[in-house]
Amino acid sequence: MPTESQSPYLPFGENKNASWYGKDILSVKQFNRADLEYIFGVAHEMRGMVERIGTFDLLKGKILANLFYEPSTRTSSSFTAAMERLGGSVIPINEVKYSSVTKGESLTDTVRTLECYADVIVLRHPETGSAAIAAKAAKKPVINAGDGIGEHPTQALLDTFTIMEELGRLDNLTVTMLGDLKYGRTVHSLARLLSLFKVKLNYVSPDILRMPKEVMDEVAAKGIPQAEYSTLEKVLPETDVLYVTRVQKERFEDPAEYEKVKGAYVIDPEIMKAAKQEMIVMHPLPRVTEISMDFDDDPRAAYFRQMEYGLYVRMALLAMVLGKA
Ligand code: NCD
Repeated sequence: MPTESQSPYLPFGENKNASWYGKDILSVKQFNRADLEYIFGVAHEMRGMVERIGTFDLLKGKILANLFYEPSTRTSSSFTAAMERLGGSVIPINEVKYSSVTKGESLTDTVRTLECYADVIVLRHPETGSAAIAAKAAKKPVINAGDGIGEHPTQALLDTFTIMEELGRLDNLTVTMLGDLKYGRTVHSLARLLSLFKVKLNYVSPDILRMPKEVMDEVAAKGIPQAEYSTLEKVLPETDVLYVTRVQKERFEDPAEYEKVKGAYVIDPEIMKAAKQEMIVMHPLPRVTEISMDFDDDPRAAYFRQMEYGLYVRMALLAMVLGKA
């Protein structure tokens, strides 16, 4: 176990004056470049600790309530793993159908209940703005793990951490987002977060799934060049990060519309011949058909490594809001 003097990031007492102590994490709009540098520093430290000793007691005695009103594999299990690797424990409510939510309990009452038992609440909910509502009702920190088509800030943090670890920089990059840019909350958060850096953003999507104007306007206000396309061909050769997304079937009102666009793009080894050798392909996962499994062994396929980086970023965020980083 390192002593405090060995690590500038992980103090062993609770620091109530730390700038992230007790804070909610609701939107990427909360972060500036210095914050990201700090989070990445802590995440990097977490990675070293996990590799060296696996589990350690930084959050011993702390409890996380993992409240998921929508399906999740990675986000929910990586928050659980993050808490347990830090020596804390978890109240899992992954199936709200077995909780009092089915009896008609409101989100705010559920959150007020859970904060009696837990120190931090991670919430995924189908409605945009729900995390902010929960945070207003709760005294304990609330972390947004996806609010409908709104935001997914912890995913964008792990996505930018992945780019940093894999390519060594966030400036001077061309990032191409592909697929469902309308309903995909991960790209809404990622485009906003990347606008803190000197990037060029390409959006490739079917016409009915274009990036929302609201997000594009915010990004444009930061002076970031953005361009929209319906095919990948033209932009693939210049792309440093290809961020592929799933068409969000569950968000379509008309199933016929989903059928029209579901297989719009498929990344495979043949298509990737036109891309640089020094670039990465990312995906928040789950994938359906948009990246062929034949591509998984290509060194540019970063999506499995991306999941692992997520553990370290979520460990960092939990330590920060609980005053331990
Ligand atoms: C994403 C989500 O839930 O927004 N998944 C995730 O958290 N890694 C992406 C998706 O569901 O397509």
